[in-house]
Amino acid sequence: MTNHEVPPLLGQIAHAVSGAIDRARPELAGAAPVVRRSEHADFQSNAALALAKRARTAPRGLAAELIAHLGDSAIGAAELSGPGFLNLTVPDEAIWRQVSSRLNDARLGVGVPNAGQRTVIDYSGPNIAKEMHVGHLRTTIIGDSLARVLEFLGAEVVRQNHLGDWGTQFGMLIQYLGEHPELTWHHGEVTGRSTSAVSVLDAVYKAARRQFDADPDFADRSRARVVALQSGDAATLAMWREIVAESEKAFRDIYDRLDVLITPEDSVGESFYNHLLDGTVTELVDAGIAVESEGALVIFSEEVTGPDGEPVPLMVRKRDGGYGYDTTDLAAVRYRTGELNAERLLYVTDSRQALHFRLIFEAARRAGWLTDDVPAEHVAFGTVRGPDGRPFKTREGGTVRLMALLDDAVTRARAVVAEKDPDLDPAELTRIAEVAGVGAVKYADLSTSRVKDYLLDVDRMVSFTGNTGVYLQYAHTRIRSILRKAGNAEVSVDPRVRLEPAERALTLGLDDYGTTLAEVSDTLEPHHLCAYLYALARDFTTFYETCPVLTADEPVRRNRLALCRLTARTLEHGLGLLGITAPERM
Ligand code: ARG
Repeated sequence: MTNHEVPPLLGQIAHAVSGAIDRARPELAGAAPVVRRSEHADFQSNAALALAKRARTAPRGLAAELIAHLGDSAIGAAELSGPGFLNLTVPDEAIWRQVSSRLNDARLGVGVPNAGQRTVIDYSGPNIAKEMHVGHLRTTIIGDSLARVLEFLGAEVVRQNHLGDWGTQFGMLIQYLGEHPELTWHHGEVTGRSTSAVSVLDAVYKAARRQFDADPDFADRSRARVVALQSGDAATLAMWREIVAESEKAFRDIYDRLDVLITPEDSVGESFYNHLLDGTVTELVDAGIAVESEGALVIFSEEVTGPDGEPVPLMVRKRDGGYGYDTTDLAAVRYRTGELNAERLLYVTDSRQALHFRLIFEAARRAGWLTDDVPAEHVAFGTVRGPDGRPFKTREGGTVRLMALLDDAVTRARAVVAEKDPDLDPAELTRIAEVAGVGAVKYADLSTSRVKDYLLDVDRMVSFTGNTGVYLQYAHTRIRSILRKAGNAEVSVDPRVRLEPAERALTLGLDDYGTTLAEVSDTLEPHHLCAYLYALARDFTTFYETCPVLTADEPVRRNRLALCRLTARTLEHGLGLLGITAPERM
């Protein structure tokens, strides 16, 4: 197999129409060919309608001129229709050749439009000593899928896990743990499906907070501990490192189970920026961007005003001299452009942080850290709700443990898979249930427009019908089984075979893969890829119902097997970009 970009038919047609425009009307050279898929033909161009006025002629007349100038191209038939549409039909042979080149390409014909673009993507970012909540599940899944798509399109992706690993709360926690040596909180000691080092630390943190509020002496000792931590006291720092490491082990369990790309090297938490904060702040003050206000140092927005009509401030240095979340993010933008050489910056967090990032980006542009050619985007997502429509919480109102949620999805997936195929041996069933359950959670998250609030309904997501991960995994296994029955032989396509309508619909769908991925890259919306794969699986079903494969005569049989193979590979690859495994059978 080779690595050759195979331009989609849509692109080839658009190119041909552009050529016709240039030749027919040189004064309109470069005008958009306005080509899209059509129900009446393979493609349709609305260029004549769009350009008639500029060409000082009637749309139908211009359309006829364009047809006359199309000349010898991939287009078989160009017809004038309605008020001036061009209906364009690609010859069967050209479509079969397209199938063949995609099949012989390791990248399925997809190019590298993002080649070399250094893209820093900030996602996951859980907080040390706290349970990851469902919001962290969303950022982890969405961020990971975007990282995969952008990387496949050629971008140089740098993942940054902005861990919440710094702040005054650690003084309290370290002090409390020091005063309670009997507490068991190390990952290896407590790990289990119902508990983990972070859930223990989370509980310890709450106990420390209670004592802090009730006991002034403990509060004083905790404050002294914060000072010790910030001034680099060795014993305090050692304890802090231990807490971070134990929490990270628990996060890693989740990452491993979710099968995401984040590695320990991607952990660049808030503490990392500590040594850069003074320099960052000095630069902002010297440039006159950060100013004193009531004893604090702030940046007033030039774009956003609050409900009182006053400009909204970003907190650079608190009145007590401390730095917080805002300052760290300012230092992080500066570092990501200045040191990591980011050409595109993405932040995947929930939509409640929209204002925060807007202010950070504005300040970074004023400071010159972000330039006009570097887009910075907040990839926002909505709140997770339970089937009752309320924010997703345990019955007691606590955080739902992510491991428990994944266990639940896997258990339910196991039941539906076992029902479908009672003959699976138990070890195989366990393996399939895991990829089906975890895949279901991911797919359900990725298949909705991310900014909308998201309804987490485990029963619905493991269903074999509808737009679910399980449906797509199953569609893939059915095609694999057809290929196995045919002996898995590599087949070559005979381009002289006449195309059936269902074959045509399927091939034109397959041809849209690269265009769909580019759309995901532009909009940062993985749901476009989900919708594409779902439509593809359905087009395949229609094809399989109307076009017998294994019983067909040659050379029709081999062409249909080629379509099966290309569909299976596209489904498997697309699911892979969503971070979902496509098993051979289920
Ligand atoms: N730790 C933060 C939270 O849990 C997310 C960090 C997002 N990234 C950033 N650069 N602020 O909400």
